[in-house]
Amino acid sequence: MRVFEGLALIEKRQPRSSPRLHTGAGSLAGLPEIAAKLGTGTVWLVTDPGLMEHGYPAHTQRLLESAGFRVILLTDVQENPDSLVVRRLADRLVLEKPNLIVALGGGSALDTAKAANLLAFSGGQMVDYRGYGKAKGKLLPMVGIPTTTGTGSESQSYAVIEERQSHLKMACGDPQLLFHTVILDPELATSQPRRVAAVSGLDAITHALESSVTLKHSPLSRLYSWEAWRLLSSSFAGMMQDSANLTTVATMQWGAYLAGAAIEQSMLGACHASANPLTAHYGLVHGLAVSIMMPVVLRFNSAVAVGTYTELARLAGLPGIRPADELATLVEKFALSAGLPTRLRDCGVSEGIFPILAEEAFDQWTGKFNPRPVSEKDFIEIYQAAF
Ligand SMILES: [Fe+2]
Repeated sequence: MRVFEGLALIEKRQPRSSPRLHTGAGSLAGLPEIAAKLGTGTVWLVTDPGLMEHGYPAHTQRLLESAGFRVILLTDVQENPDSLVVRRLADRLVLEKPNLIVALGGGSALDTAKAANLLAFSGGQMVDYRGYGKAKGKLLPMVGIPTTTGTGSESQSYAVIEERQSHLKMACGDPQLLFHTVILDPELATSQPRRVAAVSGLDAITHALESSVTLKHSPLSRLYSWEAWRLLSSSFAGMMQDSANLTTVATMQWGAYLAGAAIEQSMLGACHASANPLTAHYGLVHGLAVSIMMPVVLRFNSAVAVGTYTELARLAGLPGIRPADELATLVEKFALSAGLPTRLRDCGVSEGIFPILAEEAFDQWTGKFNPRPVSEKDFIEIYQAAF
């Protein structure tokens, strides 16, 4: 019966596409061939400034030049990219007219490249593209090369951009924002600092947990989210012990990719909806904010998601008797093992702001996919429970 219902769901919802994948240690070497198939002339290489010291951008530039490309290197990438940065890059893109975009870095670099591509060819303001499928022009082909193991931006047709004035995060999606090809080379992620590995890994973990139970989940999204959870939950502790271990990094990288692919099919929920205002008001790093909110949201959703939570608990080797509590405790344990705070009070957040945060969380599009309806009052209680 469950299988039959699943097939009916697949029929109703056309699954979204996935990028072509090029994987394995050293797979970056395949970039010249991949790029040559996508175009000639000028390539925009968008990257994190912090990567320059590791030499990855210079190496990537040489690879592209070996394929005959003229490379324009752009390092105007900031954490939590905002609409002004994207505007500047989009204007520059119109002038420089590259033929291909290669995004190398964490989720911020990947999202910045996607958003600049969208704005340059569709006009208007970033805020016009909140939601899905609003691109007007034909965008440039893009290659995504993640160097962190977390956001899953590489497997999604969304760019998350902060609105400059309000600091609120906007999820802007379009089928053309999907990378044509993604290169998953774990060697590029072995030099991420331990703290980056921790917050990006926790972000991926919340992606796997949230996307498993959303109102939009499907049998296909569950294939992604459950396998992502299995990989991530079994590797996070090892990642904290040795964030340069190639096998562990490769497992986390694949888990993060699959968790992103799950979001692409099934969206997120109240954890991300409540975390985003914390980043907007207090500058909390995204992975930290979601790791604090996830345990509370797991317990909030417990009554409507007990079956799935039981399966997820068992996949992580937990008894599955009180699955929401067990999963919540495991997420807290992961954060503590990374030396991260698990309460809002330890992050400088004050209780007095909860009504404002709750109002903004309620307005977040992503919260509408939570399996249990969440009111503004519920969000206040969720923040209080996380305090
Ligand atoms: Fe996230």
